[in-house]
Amino acid sequence: MSVLDRIGQKLLFSFDPETAHGLSIAALRCGLPAASPPPRDARVEVSVCGLDFPNPLGMAAGYDKNAEVPDALLGLGFGFAEVGTITPLPQSGNPKPRIFRLTADEAVINRLGFNNEGHGAAERRLAARKGRPGIVGVNIGANKDSADRIADYERGVARFAAHASYLTVNISSPNTPGLRNMQAREQLGELLSRVVAARAAASVQPPIFLKIAPDLVEAELEDIAAEVIEKRIDGVIVSNTTLARVGLRSASLAGEAGGLSGKPLFERSTAVLARMRKLLGPQVTIVGVGGVDSAETALEKIRAGADLVQLYTGMIYAGPALPGRIVAGMARFVERERLGSIQDLRDSACERWAAKPIT
Ligand SMILES: Cc1cc2nc3c(=O)[nH]c(=O)nc-3n(C[C@H](O)[C@H](O)[C@H](O)COP(=O)(O)O)c2cc1C
Repeated sequence: MSVLDRIGQKLLFSFDPETAHGLSIAALRCGLPAASPPPRDARVEVSVCGLDFPNPLGMAAGYDKNAEVPDALLGLGFGFAEVGTITPLPQSGNPKPRIFRLTADEAVINRLGFNNEGHGAAERRLAARKGRPGIVGVNIGANKDSADRIADYERGVARFAAHASYLTVNISSPNTPGLRNMQAREQLGELLSRVVAARAAASVQPPIFLKIAPDLVEAELEDIAAEVIEKRIDGVIVSNTTLARVGLRSASLAGEAGGLSGKPLFERSTAVLARMRKLLGPQVTIVGVGGVDSAETALEKIRAGADLVQLYTGMIYAGPALPGRIVAGMARFVERERLGSIQDLRDSACERWAAKPIT
């Protein structure tokens, strides 16, 4: 980390996590840190789902919940940015405090509960950037008090199909009671059928990704994979935050309710990702997320079976230079190993990761 980044991080860590997050969004909105997308490097380009990603590293959902700064994120060096989760109606989420830094573990626990400004505000911002280059995915969810949660996802598809490079159906947040139950086969089948029908009715048909939890047993993963294949969903994002609390040093905060992200999530989410790759076969796109904080961890997600990689918590601890550093490290790796493309690396450690226990 550079001296400037270290000072920036110290400053942000002097505020509570949610205030620090707000300040970082405000800084990006003002053009800080000044950045322009790094030059394209053919060795790290990835083409999947009809989209040409300049590099495989994306900003995960939850950082830019209201689509305020997708272009500034791309300017930091990310190959794509996912905004959201966005619900039809604005909602304030759970009572504060609801984000906790587990500094000794380089982890975070959050129980935000889909706080966001709703479809209207995000759509206005995305419409205003129409025509700009850059891959921006839109992550959609359901309001906590919705009488028909599946209808909320249909509304998300209808609203954002024309504004999104891809859509993510997020049913894996642990902070909206009952939401994760939609991962069960029968509910998932209905959700995916209706989401796919909503896309067919829209004026534009972007790829649809499904974002899943890391807290699923083998039989549940098999059901999800079967539904993804049957309903011809384009991709799966593995994974959201975990309810598990394994091997944490920050004992005083480990008991906070919510989803754990960051370094301690890496092993579990990568083991689930490799299982998903084996169940889905080679064609379906997989986005690997959970504990990525370096070129090596990003490359390991690809070895385990990911086409694309995302991060969030890593940037809280390493600062805004992290994406550029990871992408440069990936390019150096491809050069050193004399690979034609970073995509050649995919699945090379899938069996090893799939054999690991989910911890
Ligand atoms: C503060 C915070 C808020 C999040 N909000 C969302 C969200 O709204 N939607 C979503 O799909 N994932 C959300 N996530 C999960 C991340 O997108 C990601 O799946 C998870 O944090 C694991 O990646 P990481 O270890 O790199 O952070 C959130 C994560 C954090 C830390």
